[in-house]
Amino acid sequence: MERVQVTPRSFPTNLIDKDWANRKHMHKKNSEHFLSLVHDMKLRDDDVWVVTLPKCGTTWMQELSWLLLNNCDFAGALAKDQELRSPFLEFGFSLHDDVQRSFGPIEKLNSPRLIKSHLPLALLPSKLWEGQHKVIYVFRNPLDHWVSRYYHGVTFGFHYGKTLHQFFDEILASDDFATEIIEHAHEFYQLRNEPWVFYTSFERMKKDLRGVINDVSSFLNKPINEQQMEQLLKHLSFEEMKKNPTTNHLWEFSQVKHKNAGKEKHPFVRRGDVNGYKDELTPEQIEKANIGIQRILEKNSVTMDELLLKNDP
Ligand code: A3P
Repeated sequence: MERVQVTPRSFPTNLIDKDWANRKHMHKKNSEHFLSLVHDMKLRDDDVWVVTLPKCGTTWMQELSWLLLNNCDFAGALAKDQELRSPFLEFGFSLHDDVQRSFGPIEKLNSPRLIKSHLPLALLPSKLWEGQHKVIYVFRNPLDHWVSRYYHGVTFGFHYGKTLHQFFDEILASDDFATEIIEHAHEFYQLRNEPWVFYTSFERMKKDLRGVINDVSSFLNKPINEQQMEQLLKHLSFEEMKKNPTTNHLWEFSQVKHKNAGKEKHPFVRRGDVNGYKDELTPEQIEKANIGIQRILEKNSVTMDELLLKNDP
């Protein structure tokens, strides 16, 4: 998919004081109309959004949030693909160039709606910036995000035939990808203490899933008992989610029309490790990536440990 620089209709200057005019936003070519409709999108009071970069634990967090919002209806979760329970805003438009295929499924959803998006803060509906809706953000180490993104792209066809090393060399050819990731996360990190934002990381979910479940339960004001906690821990475990057809994006895959889709398949819930990149990339690639990431972190005056919430209790 060809990506070009886009200019948001307006900026969340009420939330973050920064040089928005120089914040580079990239999106699919010819998406001005779609992005304009997103900017003006009408929301319902009880909408909940899961906002992430791809491959950062979105599906994992959506499954948790959907269950909390639906009184731990495990049977309901297992009966319907997650993409239909919690639609991905950009998906229909990205794939079919049809704005109605993006907005239609969301408009038809019963409340409370759980909406997924990978859009950065300034491209999300401007209504969200008023702080009246709940937003959950999940970040992940960029190297694991990139490796995971590669396997996803191979399965969906657009990286088929490319090696992981070729993919990485393309990523590392400029600072653009690292900039996009760090700025996307840093904007939400800066909002982490707002009552309407819950910011966490994949690494935290791996380290203390029970703690994150408790935090999201409080954030959404959906208390659970110990039995439900035990059921959630099991349902959300890597092993269960790996074998669960509704959390492996089979519906999404069935929509993909790329000529190379499915020629080499990797499961959606694939490896689920922290620092798995260390045995998939060369030491030179890791070093080069870390130098580039560090450069962008410094420009944003934030550290990777901060963004990953490494030092939070
Ligand atoms: P890997 O490809 O590194 O395994 P997203 O939903 O944002 O696209 O993220 C997908 C990543 O989350 C994949 O990473 C997937 O394996 C991982 N993931 C999904 N469910 C998980 C779980 N229950 N435990 C650990 N990792 C999980």
